[in-house]
Amino acid sequence: MAAASPPPPVQLVAALRAARRVAVLTGAGVSAESGVPTFRDAQTGLWAEFDPLELATPAAFARNPRRVWDWYAMRRDMVGRVAPNPAHVALADLEKRIPEFLLVTQNVDGLHQRAGSRRVVELHGNITRVRCSREGTPVFRWSDDDVDAPPRCASCGAFLRPDVVWFEEMLPADALGAAEDAASRCDVLLVVGTSAEVYPAAALPILARRRGALVVEVNTETTPLSAQADYALRGPAGVVLPALVAAVRGDAASTP
Ligand code: OAD
Repeated sequence: MAAASPPPPVQLVAALRAARRVAVLTGAGVSAESGVPTFRDAQTGLWAEFDPLELATPAAFARNPRRVWDWYAMRRDMVGRVAPNPAHVALADLEKRIPEFLLVTQNVDGLHQRAGSRRVVELHGNITRVRCSREGTPVFRWSDDDVDAPPRCASCGAFLRPDVVWFEEMLPADALGAAEDAASRCDVLLVVGTSAEVYPAAALPILARRRGALVVEVNTETTPLSAQADYALRGPAGVVLPALVAAVRGDAASTP
């Protein structure tokens, strides 16, 4: 049986009911309960086991393309075998009730879309997509037959790469622009399951706060954002968010 969440603060529920514009920023923690590992959690985080400089930079890909390709192929395979959890579903449900809504995610797993979220901006790309490493063109069919190297682009012969953002790379300008616009105009920003350490995503809550939005953190742990948030809701997103959205909906059992 799922753990019970304390009732969400009454003023927060009222603010979400009244809000016309809501933005959400999610990180790896929102997918943790689906079985997707986070990055920085001690013991279980990917960066506790793997070195990002050897796997998630352009230089790493240039040095050892096969190793980088294989690591992402392993994660792509894993993402295909998991399912959205109640946190993803609650956010998709919340979207239906808010006139202007944008979900900004740092995750590359596509689980928000699979849960039914429609207005989604992916700041760090999507691991299920592949593109040419030279021309950037999306590639929908490729063969993993060549055991010595990643598959090649059929048009120019360069290696294919996952369509994600690596360290030292720019974020897609349109995605970042849409995220900054939503953060600067929203009434409420929910920040869910992110360590709030990686920029420019970590600047979005600061921008929202400066522009007068209510900033709400949902996280199992304290983060650098916690002290600046109007509300810091402690607990697993898969428990806290369904309770919050049920209260906004006005479900009898969850109304404080
Ligand atoms: P992190 O691994 O840095 O942080 C995950 C956060 O989720 C932590 O603050 C945890 O406390 C929290 N958390 C864990 N389980 C949770 C749960 N069930 N419910 C709520 N919170 C939970 O992941 P991100 O902040 O997403 O970038 O990391 C940002 C970026 O750094 C990633 O997109 C990735 C990484 O390096 C690239 O690969 C470019």
